[in-house]
Amino acid sequence: MAQDDNGGREIIAADSSGAAHAEESAGTAVAARDALSDPGLPPHRARVTDTDARAEKRAERTVYTLFYLSIVGSIWAIAAYMLFPIESNNVGDVRLNTLLIGLGIALALLAIGIGAVHWAKTLMSDKEGIDVRHPVRGDEETRARAVEIFQEANEESGFGRRTLIRNSLIGALIAFPLPAIVLFRGLGPQNENPVALLSHTMWKKGTRLALDPSGTPIMAADVTVGSAFHVIPEGLNELKTGKLEEKAKAVVLLMRLRPEDLNELPERKDWSYDGIVAYSKICTHVGCPVALYEQQTHHLLCPCHQSQFDVANHCAVIFGPAARPLPQLPIAVDAEGYLVAQSDFHEPVGPSFWERH
Ligand code: FES
Repeated sequence: MAQDDNGGREIIAADSSGAAHAEESAGTAVAARDALSDPGLPPHRARVTDTDARAEKRAERTVYTLFYLSIVGSIWAIAAYMLFPIESNNVGDVRLNTLLIGLGIALALLAIGIGAVHWAKTLMSDKEGIDVRHPVRGDEETRARAVEIFQEANEESGFGRRTLIRNSLIGALIAFPLPAIVLFRGLGPQNENPVALLSHTMWKKGTRLALDPSGTPIMAADVTVGSAFHVIPEGLNELKTGKLEEKAKAVVLLMRLRPEDLNELPERKDWSYDGIVAYSKICTHVGCPVALYEQQTHHLLCPCHQSQFDVANHCAVIFGPAARPLPQLPIAVDAEGYLVAQSDFHEPVGPSFWERH
């Protein structure tokens, strides 16, 4: 069926028998009939809150109680975050912390939602109206009507009049984002300057270079020309707390080139050992692990945004968005033939942002 553009009458196809319009061929004949008459809106049925002042008061109480409940939920989420911290890598701690914070946030959100729906269903006007279509233009009459509508809406919803509901809703909406602020703050370093934290790693004079993840110290004689090792500081695996944070800063790539292939900076001549060099594995772009070593070209590739570093040329950036070379770890060999660090890195590892302090 389709509707013609003349008086809202419908045009319907005749049936295949052609009984109604025998002179038309079956399938192409049309018959017109009047559209159904508009039944209009059903009569308005008053709700109990429209007729009973006590029921209206009860509904109002329910609504602002729900909004206050939402505030309690938000505060509970913050309190749970502080009262049930994740002190260790204990899964039980993580579950309890997540459960209690989640319950607080769920209560905050649900109570605002249920309160708003209850407010609309019981106290705001439920009269249906028809807004006849008209051209969209902002003449004076329309503007005046818009103001009138806002005033009516304010009057009917009681937003200005029902101060307890209004204020409790404003309070609930202000309190609701607070858990997010507290939770995100908790992701950052506590009471410490992040620049200072990133400026130092576990490496210090004499720390042995060890295989990642086993922690087995590496002997210089075991590093053959062309090989690459993923390295952590010896002792990292024994850390009781902060192991992941320390590892994230201290991971190193160890490579051995032929000494004649190495183009070392004059001030770093003694930072390598017989062609063995160690560089931070943390990309100076945005901190991904630079994990791909191309033995023939001596290039390191960061898979995140394709920055490439030339190991033969003190890990200078030869392609990609990284802004500075990978920091080099000065290494040497101890009396037993194990590779050791001469010191910590001489510059902060990771994204270049941290250099700008
Ligand atoms: S993080 Fe390495 S290139 Fe972007």
